[in-house]
Amino acid sequence: MNVEFYRHNLDEADIERVCATLRSVFLTSGPVCAEFEKKFSAYTGLPYTVALSSCSGAMHLALMALGVGPGDEVITTPMTFIATSTVILHLGAKPVLVDVEPDTALIDPAEVAAAVTPKTKAILPVNLYGAMCDMRALREIADKHKLFLIEDNAHCIEAERDGVRPGMLADASCYSFYATKNLTCGEGGALACHDEALAIRIRQLANHGMSKNAAGRYHGKYEHWDMVAEGWKYNLDDVHAAMMVHQLDRLDDLWERKNEIVNRYDAGFADAPGITRHKVPGKSAHHLYTLWVDPARRDEILHDLRDRHVGAAVNYRAIHTLTYLRETLGHAPEDFPEAYRIGLSTITLPLYPKLADEQVDYVIEQVKEVAAPK
Ligand SMILES: Cc1ncc(COP(=O)(O)O)c(C=O)c1O
Repeated sequence: MNVEFYRHNLDEADIERVCATLRSVFLTSGPVCAEFEKKFSAYTGLPYTVALSSCSGAMHLALMALGVGPGDEVITTPMTFIATSTVILHLGAKPVLVDVEPDTALIDPAEVAAAVTPKTKAILPVNLYGAMCDMRALREIADKHKLFLIEDNAHCIEAERDGVRPGMLADASCYSFYATKNLTCGEGGALACHDEALAIRIRQLANHGMSKNAAGRYHGKYEHWDMVAEGWKYNLDDVHAAMMVHQLDRLDDLWERKNEIVNRYDAGFADAPGITRHKVPGKSAHHLYTLWVDPARRDEILHDLRDRHVGAAVNYRAIHTLTYLRETLGHAPEDFPEAYRIGLSTITLPLYPKLADEQVDYVIEQVKEVAAPK
């Protein structure tokens, strides 16, 4: 048996929608992006959505629009993809890393509270693997110190914890539609928020600070545009947005299938020697299924799985241990012992709706065999 790490779930209706867009007049940000934004807002409950080219772009613009700049500090997590910190560095600000909870791998609110200084401007937590951080606690800290709360929701659209959904308590919520995400168009992202003025600002900053985008310039009679800010080029185009309009309708059904797979994995790995499943608070969006194994044997286990035709990955090695961030931020691995330990022990298994039950059972069997203490 061969179990690939990931297979996308685009169907014929998604592909047809792309073809229809290619046959239309508009290829860049136009009516399909607008339709997607409306549907995405209806799904998330966040009234304003701006479709962008990546989550990295969304986070960069969110920090920029909220005024984060040189000398400012942004508190964030080392257990994430590098973009969560690099967007802070791009603005001349400092990522202040704090450790994660030992049992969930999510940013620890007590560590966040302890790291606030007069220079702190924002908190940038990551809803990791699809599981939500304690957003009520983080919002409280943000309110107490007048900080912005920006969520990295690259992994997290469908989740809920303590009655809170992704982005609900945030000043800005940033999403990724990268190739392996639950909702995908290959490369894409979005920023969603409650504040119309912020959404307008983000739309301008995503388009070189121009006062009108292409759709605004070329519909009806010509009107001049102005440059109102120094921006970037992060807009999504209609061809990519076309892949997601129908996908959104299926998101909950796809989640249901992922939930079945996660339950099957959980049952299969319960009490398995050498394997620990971390805690998942609340309803996860089920983006990634990760386990912890013996750190001394983690890489060997990954190689053994490859030999047995099981796709597996690492999400993530703690980012403060990676050369550039280690040198730039001046951290030792042990500065964040929980993130360091988790980064050495974690493996990610295949999780996508097209996985058959027999494939899931095969993965369980192989992982149990290779991870069992020798
Ligand atoms: C946690 C996290 N944040 C941010 C990103 C960046 O997303 P994008 O590739 O859309 O810029 C990713 C991408 O995988 C991610 O996993």
